[in-house]
Amino acid sequence: MFDAWYGVESSDECLTTLRKLAGDGPVLELGVGTGRVAVPLAASGLQVTGIDASPEMIEQLRAKPGSERITVVQGDLADADVGDEEARFSLITCVDNTLFLLESQEEQVRCFRNVARRLTPGGLFVIEVPARVPRMDEDEHGVFVESVSADRVGLWIVDHNRAEQRMFMQQVSFENGSVRLLPVPVRYAWPAELDLMAQMAGLRLRERWSDWDRTPFSSTSVVNISVYEKPGGGDD
Ligand SMILES: C[S@@+](CC[C@H](N)C(=O)[O-])C[C@H]1O[C@@H](n2cnc3c(N)ncnc32)[C@H](O)[C@@H]1O
Repeated sequence: MFDAWYGVESSDECLTTLRKLAGDGPVLELGVGTGRVAVPLAASGLQVTGIDASPEMIEQLRAKPGSERITVVQGDLADADVGDEEARFSLITCVDNTLFLLESQEEQVRCFRNVARRLTPGGLFVIEVPARVPRMDEDEHGVFVESVSADRVGLWIVDHNRAEQRMFMQQVSFENGSVRLLPVPVRYAWPAELDLMAQMAGLRLRERWSDWDRTPFSSTSVVNISVYEKPGGGDD
């Protein structure tokens, strides 16, 4: 189901950039999902481990050719626990808005701290999150059209709590006479707060882009791709 809604391929630019940042690896993907990113990264020769909380996602990942190269751990991405206290990674990724699926600031801070622990000196943590929230009127509810075609209508219905930086988003799909709901609660954070979380974990911002072509981030960016670095690599 996930692949049908979000698309099965990752962009070439995303994979090329992550491949470069990974060096010789190994790589850990937090919220690996169906392996959209992890499968091609592993196919390029990198050692890849993925964590996901959802048995259904892991099952879909396992059904993909090439997934046998990936070590998959079922668990909470905030723990970044791969079952081996000694394991260290040159690149840890948390892409496609997955960090904001941790529903509290405390969980997001915990995630940064555990990531920092798991990185090699000079290792990188890459996050991809939205840099904007949908425009909504005063009552903090909104309905957004995702797609309209002859046999399917997709909507997002959003309840926004600005004070807590939370949105409860319901993806509603009308298709073949049936209605499907996909609830997605998120807790968002702006770049400055994310940088502070990184700083608290001992990481520092190395680069920030608005897309995988590495366009520099600006006030008009819709997406925030941030690369945090653990000090101690050769360049320090
Ligand atoms: C938006 S999908 C992204 C999947 C994949 N990274 C990609 O880019 O295609 C988010 C994934 O994170 C997983 N997830 C959400 N919250 C999680 C948590 N607290 N711990 C582990 N996995 C989680 C979901 O099951 C889902 O597979």
